[in-house]
Amino acid sequence: MPDLRYERVRKVFRARNAEVVALNDVSFVIFEGELFCLLGPSGCGKTTLLRCTAGLERLDGGRIYYGEMDFTAIPPFRRNIGMVFQNYALYPHMSVYENVAYPLRIRKLPRKEIDRRVREIMELVGLPGVLRRNPSELSGGQQQRVALARALVYQPKLLLLDEPLANLDAKLKVYMRTEIRRIQKQARVTTLYVTHDQQEAMAIADRLGVMESGVVRQIGTPDEIYDDPSNEFVAGFIGEMNFFPAKIVSLNGNELVVEVGSARKCKSIRARAEPRGERVTVALRPEHLRISPPTSGEGAFRGRIQVIQFLGKFVRYQVAISGSEALVEVDMPDAVPGLHEGAEAVLDFDSQDMLVFSEGERIA
Ligand SMILES: Nc1ncnc2c1ncn2[C@@H]1O[C@H](COP(=O)(O)OP(=O)(O)O)[C@@H](O)[C@H]1O
Ligand SMILES: [Mg+2]
Repeated sequence: MPDLRYERVRKVFRARNAEVVALNDVSFVIFEGELFCLLGPSGCGKTTLLRCTAGLERLDGGRIYYGEMDFTAIPPFRRNIGMVFQNYALYPHMSVYENVAYPLRIRKLPRKEIDRRVREIMELVGLPGVLRRNPSELSGGQQQRVALARALVYQPKLLLLDEPLANLDAKLKVYMRTEIRRIQKQARVTTLYVTHDQQEAMAIADRLGVMESGVVRQIGTPDEIYDDPSNEFVAGFIGEMNFFPAKIVSLNGNELVVEVGSARKCKSIRARAEPRGERVTVALRPEHLRISPPTSGEGAFRGRIQVIQFLGKFVRYQVAISGSEALVEVDMPDAVPGLHEGAEAVLDFDSQDMLVFSEGERIA
């Protein structure tokens, strides 16, 4: 069952003479209990969508539904939403206990019930022992747990998180994202989580939406988005990707043959895909390229190794090839004998692993 439904949501900001279309007909659903991540570069409209959901911005078009209810007709304070922002915004003059109790006090719950709920939620976020402290006496990670407790203590229908880990250091970030997922699943609260950090989104989301300039470019599970990006923007934004200019040689039935580097590669074209023109782009993940010494024969590309990095689980080769400014990245499970920095090498790949894009849209 969809819990939250966005239908052609539109938001335009007018600043001086310029118009910014922050949300351009955004449509998707979030299911009950789901942790949905909205991912995209800075300025693509993520915060605006959260603020529209919370009722802090008025829509210029479209609707947001909660179940059967038209959310847009409900004032913000009746929407029963919990929110957490990047800067924790705890009340500095109140104890942790009072911070978390605050939403219950304004809802006029009995004192005993408030006490029970505050203790229960602090248990859930894993911080039962700091109730009497002040926020300033807590670490960044602890403050973020308190902010989460305060957002969840009145059992909201929806939880909105805007870059909640942005102020934490790298190691704590990795730990806290697992914690947020655990807490979200235990609280069983439908959640919209906004971030520009693709690793973070991939690590915690049940499903995610990738945004670019006010438009949702793809929705899917982390797996689907990584393995099967539907356009060049998503392919480049998620994970590491090498892009090569290529040319369509032929299209017979659904057999597409492209010329990439000095090789011809064949792959089935997608249903309903229509190439526009003969120029296309071929994309390959570093783990889908192979590197070998030039003596081993032919490959799609020939180049010179600039850098070899031993990264533990794999070895990364960065290779300069002619006609491409960016270095090509190749990940191999082990170091390849006979290859060193400065050496010439040959790169190749299996045609099944290549992704083909025509004018930015995936065709094979
Ligand atoms: N109050 C505002 N007035 C004018 N422009 C705004 C306002 N809020 C956001 N914008 C613009 O809308 C676009 C989306 O912003 P935002 O939703 O904050 O992006 P994100 O959260 O993805 O970084 C940006 O171009 C931003 O400059
Ligand atoms: Mg933002």
